[in-house]
Amino acid sequence: MFKIKTNDLKYLAVFCIVSLFGNAQDKSTTITFNQDEKAPVISKHIYGHFAEHLGRCIYDGFFVGDTSKIANTNGVRNDIVKALKDLKIPNLRWPGGCFADTYHWKDGIGPQKDRPTIVNQWWGGVTEDNSFGTHDFLNLCELLETEPYVSGNVGSGTVQELADWVQYTNFDGVSPMSDLRKQNGRKEPWKVKYWGIGNEAWGCGGNMTAEYYANEYRKYATFIADWTNSGGLMRIASGANSDDYHWTETLMKNIPNHMLGGVALHHYSVIDWNNKGDAVSFTEDMYFKTMSEALEMEELVTKHAAIMDKYDPEKKVDLVVDEWGGWYAVEEGTNPGFLYQQNTMRDAVLAGVTLNIFNNHADRVRMANLAQCVNVLQAVILTDKAKMILTPTYHVMNMYKVHQDAKLIPLKFHSPKYELNGKSLPAVSVSASKDTSGLVHISMVNIDANKDNTIDLDLGALGVKNVTASIITSNKLQDYNAFDNPNHIVIQKLDNAKIKKGKLNITIPPFSVIMIEGK
Ligand code: AHR
Repeated sequence: MFKIKTNDLKYLAVFCIVSLFGNAQDKSTTITFNQDEKAPVISKHIYGHFAEHLGRCIYDGFFVGDTSKIANTNGVRNDIVKALKDLKIPNLRWPGGCFADTYHWKDGIGPQKDRPTIVNQWWGGVTEDNSFGTHDFLNLCELLETEPYVSGNVGSGTVQELADWVQYTNFDGVSPMSDLRKQNGRKEPWKVKYWGIGNEAWGCGGNMTAEYYANEYRKYATFIADWTNSGGLMRIASGANSDDYHWTETLMKNIPNHMLGGVALHHYSVIDWNNKGDAVSFTEDMYFKTMSEALEMEELVTKHAAIMDKYDPEKKVDLVVDEWGGWYAVEEGTNPGFLYQQNTMRDAVLAGVTLNIFNNHADRVRMANLAQCVNVLQAVILTDKAKMILTPTYHVMNMYKVHQDAKLIPLKFHSPKYELNGKSLPAVSVSASKDTSGLVHISMVNIDANKDNTIDLDLGALGVKNVTASIITSNKLQDYNAFDNPNHIVIQKLDNAKIKKGKLNITIPPFSVIMIEGK
């Protein structure tokens, strides 16, 4: 499905110009910062998550049921709620994914005993008993203090079904759907803002052409809001698969901007769809390939954004990367349809570089969702019965949460290279922001599997006098947090960050993620 690109790609960022062709002889690299009043704010929604009815994400993940011995609130694990609240997750996408286009929401409301079962055809062919439904999800979002992002069923549903769902969740007057909601125990509407109009319409969402989907989108978008969209819904079109630029062009050309809140994009970092490789036992060559795929995000968002600029020069429509992350072979002995994988330092580095790319493109990328939240793909949380661990990716998201709603600081530098077998990638990735209290945060990643990289940060233009720093690293790239060693990889203090004459000289160890806080 995805092609590995040559390593000679030019990564063109709008605000951050990072050259791949830095001089390999350079002992150190200097980063200069350029505070710009016109720079965009990094939307907190870039730090969003995704929970699909897939494998052990919802059932035996978030949801253990209210009769479980595991501490829970209305069936949802309290330890997961706490961990995600600590992460300040801004939004949670549900119920899919591919599952969304098979889901009929009315199956998941009302008394449990009356709910029909269905077969989860995409994910393991297991029986879905619909015990976790609309009320459970939206109440969970309230508990998490996060915005729900609901994916509607376009592939096998109807316009009426989706319009009814919106009325059920959002209408506060008298109507058949709001009356039904009240009958099911919820008086106040939840006021869901974010609505996905289908998912992967080019694939599991109906195998549609871009032209056909654009028309479907217009029809759906018409009936889930009034003419003026007075309900303030954000309608998000099912977007392109990686470098399918024709998809974005067709949607932007054929859907009026005022009907479009966002256009999605999906990109997974996969070595080879037919041979994805183990999540833990991987070679440096495999790591290099994963990194090439992750760094391809720079080119993808640049090119999709350039197409959007043609039709929406005022940048009103958001680019929503609502599925991203690393995808490997499932852990041995687990259901292949459940997509359960461990999470190593490779994933921490992958998350760090991807979030830096999103931050640097904050003028257009205003929402993103890591796939997925619990027990599926590049999860931030893994569970095993009563045990729960926070993965290295969790710690990166936790470290980076300071960028949420902070103003981007544009920067320039020449990255040193990470070279392997005659190929090279930019080794260092950086983004920076200033929050409303004036604190400056600079997140840096060194993807090189073997070499330190020494960086000079010219902080003169930022007026920063004092810094503190933290790091996520480990002895081996393949290291991870295990259920019997849950805190092997955590955020640690980094003591070697000192400013001399307005410059901070910092050495980033191989495969590590650093956050510098300055004031
Ligand atoms: O995240 C797993 C699956 O990947 C999603 O269901 C689908 O949208 C994508 O292909």
